[in-house]
Amino acid sequence: MALEVVILAAGKGARMRSSLPKVLHRLAGKPLLAYVLQTANALNPSKIHVVIGHESKAVKAVIENMDFQTPINWVNQSVQAGTGHAVAQVLPSTDPESTILIMAGDVPLIRPATLQPLCNVNTGIHLLTADVVDASGYGRIERDQDNNVVSIIEDKDANEKQKTITEFNTGFLVAKTKQLGSWLSRVNNANAQNEYYLPDVIPLAIEDGERITTFSISDISQVLGVNSRVQLSQLERLYQESQAKDLMALGVSLADPARIDIRGKLKVGRDCFIDINAVFKQTVVLGDGVVIEPNVLIRNSRIGDGCVIKANSVIDNAVIEANCEIGPFARIRPQTHLSPNCRVGNFVEIKKSTIASDSKVNHLSYVGDSIIGKRVNIGAGVITCNYDGANKHQTHIGDDVFVGSGCQLVAPVVLGDGATIGAGTTLRKNAPAHTLNLGKAKDIQMDDWARPKKK
Ligand code: UD1
Ligand code: CA
Repeated sequence: MALEVVILAAGKGARMRSSLPKVLHRLAGKPLLAYVLQTANALNPSKIHVVIGHESKAVKAVIENMDFQTPINWVNQSVQAGTGHAVAQVLPSTDPESTILIMAGDVPLIRPATLQPLCNVNTGIHLLTADVVDASGYGRIERDQDNNVVSIIEDKDANEKQKTITEFNTGFLVAKTKQLGSWLSRVNNANAQNEYYLPDVIPLAIEDGERITTFSISDISQVLGVNSRVQLSQLERLYQESQAKDLMALGVSLADPARIDIRGKLKVGRDCFIDINAVFKQTVVLGDGVVIEPNVLIRNSRIGDGCVIKANSVIDNAVIEANCEIGPFARIRPQTHLSPNCRVGNFVEIKKSTIASDSKVNHLSYVGDSIIGKRVNIGAGVITCNYDGANKHQTHIGDDVFVGSGCQLVAPVVLGDGATIGAGTTLRKNAPAHTLNLGKAKDIQMDDWARPKKK
């Protein structure tokens, strides 16, 4: 029995007050619609239809840049005349003998395992509902005295009594495609919003003698919709909280599970400690025993066993091997590779450079486009002058080199093994191995000299 999934994503999301279509707003760094598509894919459907309308080009462009195994059939809904109208636009491109699952593009955290049992329908309607203390905003489930569902009342159409109903429509509905089509053709728009509501198929199915079977979910986070920025922020926290719990279950200690943000995938070894306000983007891998101090941002990087990333450091697209110490206030930029036991101290920027083991760049330096050997010491305030205004040039530093404080290494330049560069040197030519290199500037002393005075 083939399953076809319809994802509704044509709405503007007026309550977001945004020029970005709602389904492109991001939860943990990923568009809402991408979550729904991921879950849809996990159900192995024969087809996925996505109904788009508002800013459809932007929606398509963002999603087509991502990788989903089932190709998407994009269906245009030129006027957003309601969820029932939206589903009706899809019907011509469906197989009438299939089973159809309707998902909303703005309910991102639903899991495949929750939907699986709903999808097994022979006739009638399967509906996912949930119970909350206050269901305002949602369609309420109306039942008769025998507890059978009779209809769904939208919040805007509900009277005071209906508004007290705590069971609500999550928006996930399954039926046989042919049956749903026949009910949808009879739905009208005589309601507060003058829209064709999908839930209005319920009384029509009952008229036809069909059963409405409800499935209830207690994990509310899976069915919370995003209609406003407040709801988006609430969902973000719920999602981050669940990721934090997963991390702790894997053996990571968190200073405060409410103050970590994972916007992508964080893979961890054992016994890592993550202090407050760490943000992880894309794919970040931490080895065993890594310590992340407060206010650290790490994007798409690998951090080896035993590393300490000190407070306020930023690491972007880099590989840091075991037992390195970074920061505080360090910036490690893309294509940087640090071998084991390196130390990068405060106010140091490293870009597109490889540094071999046991080397140190401890204070106030810029290292760019460089290849640095083992046991090198770069003193305070050393700059690799890698840019001549037009092109970038490389600096090669051998093993056991010592660069004194305040040097400028004007690239392209090679510092041979064991070379020493005296403090304050502007190095414009290569320093052969084991040589001492001092800048040409001569010390000048003046006796009859007075400091300028304030006027
Ligand atoms: C909808 C349900 C409500 C349910 C709630 C669950 C209806 C009428 N109401 O309300 O019973 O409790 O979801 O979250 O179905 N969309 C279109 N085309 C349209 C209208 C909407 O594609 O013409 C899309 C929207 O982009 C959105 C989804 O359908 O992704 C739901 O629409 P929305 O306006 O958010 O409905 P709710 O008021 O949340
Ligand atoms: Ca909604």
